[in-house]
Amino acid sequence: MEMLNIALPKGRLGEKVYDMFAAAGFECPSIKENNRKLTFENFEAGVRYFWVKPSDVAIYVERGAADIGVAGKDILLEYKPDVYELLDLGIGKCRMAVAAPVGFRDNPSKTLKVATKFSNIAKNYYDSLGREIDIIHLNGSIELAPILKLSDVIVDIVETGRTLYENNLEVVEEIVPISARLIANKSAYKFKGNVIDEILGKLER
Ligand code: PRP
Repeated sequence: MEMLNIALPKGRLGEKVYDMFAAAGFECPSIKENNRKLTFENFEAGVRYFWVKPSDVAIYVERGAADIGVAGKDILLEYKPDVYELLDLGIGKCRMAVAAPVGFRDNPSKTLKVATKFSNIAKNYYDSLGREIDIIHLNGSIELAPILKLSDVIVDIVETGRTLYENNLEVVEEIVPISARLIANKSAYKFKGNVIDEILGKLER
């Protein structure tokens, strides 16, 4: 039987995702063994799981190295991978937001300096407002940028709001709600559609 290759995002969210797949009947007990292996197979169930960096899941799926995977809506919006988005899993919920130092007031006559890991989302958002911005692309610890006056605001993920609060920052505008999505490679969906639909149906329930 041909195996279904499934890319899981490394970390807490990925463990939850695996539990959902297991509950849907696609268990792979070896995945819970604490070792440094990266791929795990259950030949009876016909599934092969592997852990990848959350932001890389869509790349594996788009290029067909994985048939399906789970990626955050943030990544799908930012990189627009050519994949099918099959299901909102309703976990990993957070929001993409603009945040700034508490009390910040935008001066529309000046170019707004925006620090972010999500340059495309930020650009599309401010384009839609007709606001001129200067994007400062960072790879992490985005919250530091306005504190050190590297930027005026940030566009970033807010989950509990704790990081903002502890750094005297606040949400200025919400851009879009985010959650984890089941995605599929387009040709895999053609050729392994039956088993993918079976998983999809069980996850929906
Ligand atoms: C994300 C985000 C915020 C934080 C928000 O960072 O960039 O820093 O989580 O969570 P909170 O609202 O619950 O405080 P992540 O942990 O993904 O790491 P990063 O610094 O690499 O972006």
